[in-house]
Amino acid sequence: MRPYDLIRKKWDGGELSREEIAFLVDGFVRGDVPDYQVSAWLMAVYFRGMTDRETADLTLAMARSGRMLDLSGIPGVKVDKHSSGGVGDKTSLVLVPLVAACGVVVPKMSGRGLGHTGGTLDKLESIPGLRTEVDVDAFLQQVRRVGCAIVGQSPDLVPADKKLYALRDVTATVDSVPLIASSIMSKKIAGGADAIVLDVKTGSGAFMKRLEEARVLAQAMVAIGSALGRRTVAVLTDMDQPLGYAVGNALEVREAIETLRGDGPGDLTELCLELGSHMLRLAGRVRGPEEGRDAFLEAVRSGAGLRKFAEMVAAQGGDPAVADRPDRLPAAPVVLDVQSPEDGYVEAVDAEAVGRVSMGLGAGRVRKEDTVDPAVGVVVEAKKGSRVHRGDVLAHVHARTEEAAQAAARALLQAYRLGPTPPAPRPLVHAVVE
Ligand code: URA
Repeated sequence: MRPYDLIRKKWDGGELSREEIAFLVDGFVRGDVPDYQVSAWLMAVYFRGMTDRETADLTLAMARSGRMLDLSGIPGVKVDKHSSGGVGDKTSLVLVPLVAACGVVVPKMSGRGLGHTGGTLDKLESIPGLRTEVDVDAFLQQVRRVGCAIVGQSPDLVPADKKLYALRDVTATVDSVPLIASSIMSKKIAGGADAIVLDVKTGSGAFMKRLEEARVLAQAMVAIGSALGRRTVAVLTDMDQPLGYAVGNALEVREAIETLRGDGPGDLTELCLELGSHMLRLAGRVRGPEEGRDAFLEAVRSGAGLRKFAEMVAAQGGDPAVADRPDRLPAAPVVLDVQSPEDGYVEAVDAEAVGRVSMGLGAGRVRKEDTVDPAVGVVVEAKKGSRVHRGDVLAHVHARTEEAAQAAARALLQAYRLGPTPPAPRPLVHAVVE
């Protein structure tokens, strides 16, 4: 078998066999198939797609590239969650400790920033000292002891996704159903959870801009999870503007902490309640959504969720004091207001454009080897439907330099569309695929 022939076959619209897919994935992980050939193959998949069978085989080949965790020794139903990626999406930082505080074990493998979207690992690593690459035994120990962990792919855990993810990020091959589905589900399958809640985003900040595309992705992932014996639910949620206000690593951690305190933005809080009650239901901890919401609100009110967050941070080597003192997080030296040029209603905030501004400030990667700047980003002040007057603040830019702040402010203005009437509201939850 030669990588060249498999690239060619996919380019010609052919269907790769299980062995051919495993040959490429294993060869890439071992270093026998170089980046440039895998990039070409990814681009061929991007344009030609994959059959359901190929996507399932790719998922399993990726999951099996490292250890497949067996969590059966940990009592109870273990539940995982994953988002298909958005802008300002710090949901996992809130949800994982809250669900654990409700008594359900959450072993979670996350990703880094991808395309214009931020990544949970980059966000968490803005907490001084925190490690997300831990070995499997340390991960399992933490899950037993704390009840939750958020770690990244590593040479032991789904190394194929670690490498493919980094390559997709810089080769414009992210927004493809088979590539997203296999990336997400390989982590979930290898992570060993019994049940999985997927947050599949749709709208301007999502990879799947249209609801119908998002539904196809959701169905593909639910089919893979169910076929492998995992109870899988996908919730299709809105990502037509940034979620919450903060976009950028430390800025988002700060907002997650506020949400754990009960002072978070309404849309983020609502989304956590929705996804969290599905997680508690799948774990058998509650019977229905109302009971799930009550349990969640109680974990916020009592401070149990915030304490669990601090415990998880400490277990991963981070400074747990950030839970009470978010001012210990890195902060950018320059903060610039972006003012409205006219009166009107905010008709749209293009979430992808906001994500790209944040990336441009240094919160994401342009090349694989780039390091992210934890402090920079954007805080959106005026969201869709807000009434603004000329000179009102639309957003704040957090930047390293005055020059970077000015450039970002100009770009951010382009992300806003103002008009004479308020836009029709969009629901936060569009559908549930079970
Ligand atoms: N999250 C992932 O883990 N992978 C993707 O491809 C997109 C979102």
